[in-house]
Amino acid sequence: MEMARVLQIFDTTLRDGEQSPGVSLNPQEKVEIAKQLARLGVDVIEAGFPVASPGDFAAVQAVAEEVEGPYICALARAVAKDVERAGEALRSADKPCIHTFIATSDIHMKYKLNKRPDEVLRMAVDAVRLARSYVDMVEFSAEDATRSDRDFLCEVFAAVLENGAKIINIPDTVGYATPQEFYDLITYIREHVPGIDQAIISVHCHNDLGLAVANSLAAVKAGAQQVECAVNGLGERAGNAALEEVVMALRTRQDHYGAITNVVTEQLYRTSRLVCALTGVSVQPNKAIVGDNAFAHESGIHQDGVLKERTTYEIMTPESIGLRQSRLVLGKHSGRHAFREKLRELGYSLTEKDINRAFERFIELADKKKAITDRDIEAIIETGRFAVPGTFILEYVHVVSGNTTVPTATVRIRHGDEVVEEAACGDGPIDAVYRAINRATKVPVHLLDYALQAVTGGADALGDATVRVKDNGHIHIGRGTSTDVIEASALAYVHAINKIVNSREKYQSAGEV
Ligand code: KIV
Ligand code: ZN
Repeated sequence: MEMARVLQIFDTTLRDGEQSPGVSLNPQEKVEIAKQLARLGVDVIEAGFPVASPGDFAAVQAVAEEVEGPYICALARAVAKDVERAGEALRSADKPCIHTFIATSDIHMKYKLNKRPDEVLRMAVDAVRLARSYVDMVEFSAEDATRSDRDFLCEVFAAVLENGAKIINIPDTVGYATPQEFYDLITYIREHVPGIDQAIISVHCHNDLGLAVANSLAAVKAGAQQVECAVNGLGERAGNAALEEVVMALRTRQDHYGAITNVVTEQLYRTSRLVCALTGVSVQPNKAIVGDNAFAHESGIHQDGVLKERTTYEIMTPESIGLRQSRLVLGKHSGRHAFREKLRELGYSLTEKDINRAFERFIELADKKKAITDRDIEAIIETGRFAVPGTFILEYVHVVSGNTTVPTATVRIRHGDEVVEEAACGDGPIDAVYRAINRATKVPVHLLDYALQAVTGGADALGDATVRVKDNGHIHIGRGTSTDVIEASALAYVHAINKIVNSREKYQSAGEV
């Protein structure tokens, strides 16, 4: 059998993914995700767009400092100021990469850039040269490549390669291409760009017509060596190609694509959950690979088949993405040792302090819920791990509600040595709780949305509440879990308020507000 070639996976969850509507990650959250991406084994992490804001610059800088393994990449338009900021943000990266781009389609050059093709070509070359003065690894993208004149596209690629670019990226920026067209375009570029043999051909597909993964795979078939994608398919508008789908398609159909990746697929599920937790964007139940139903067999015929022989209806195993069947694990009488063992088995490596904190939450939960599953433990870790320094601590929440009474809530909040109790009425019990918390903390909150999910089935299921709030143009996600949905909702709201207070302090010291 022919040796499979190894493809590079370029992850853009922290850049294009973060451009998804309503998603905003602070530097600490980006570092958490980047560390998990490094464990996942991606080759490149695009950490952000440093010129966009001081927060984005700080995030790229933090990822460059703290994350080892993959290339750390920063985005820059093909203008000097952007490239310089990217170079500065990447200063402490072991393996830095600058990704510079400019649009090459007539429609973008005429209406967006107001530039002639020769001016665009010059800007591309100048940006690549400048980027090479900062770093060795430079990627150039021709934005809107799929709607560009093919010969001009090839001319630009040849010029940037001659001037030091090592990767040329072909984005389907608006998700317009079909798989056959995209295959043909990659083939054309391979045949018409001088020097292409020395370069890495990369592709970056958007999902406006639901074709991002299919187009990326067609490009692999045509010889592309790098695929850009985002966890859970996050990204501008309808998103980017979903990393987990690209990787599992290549693994499951290696016979067809003849290519493998360095991704440790057993980390896919954990990575997806982490990204859901920190972005506040969950995946639909029927999402390929990581959706709740991706490995659930509902009909009798299917269940019967799987019980007789798994491969009748399963083309990949849940274990291959790191998903264990949710089963009973620990109970009220399980000790610290058993808990620690379970964390190890689930693949967590936490500090002693985090283990102790998680164990306290586990004991509290075991008092209320008989059957604790792996998913419950994951929820405990996910919410506990990203706790911000507790400026405000919810000590108590009490609600009176019903279909014939005005919902009323009382809360007690600790703030340092000060304890404040407040009550409020609302349109519903959660609204009443949030109004009472507003009074107690005196932090004005612009609530964008609120969602509640059950972590596992059953009447005593753990409720997982997520709120998204906006403050000074920054979006913050708060999360809380409890078997009591009112308490989970209150915890999520207080979590978001603590993030607001913390980030205000940071932005003030960075001179942003
Ligand atoms: O979609 C796109 O064209 C991009 C470029 C910056 C690569 O995200
Ligand atoms: Zn994009």
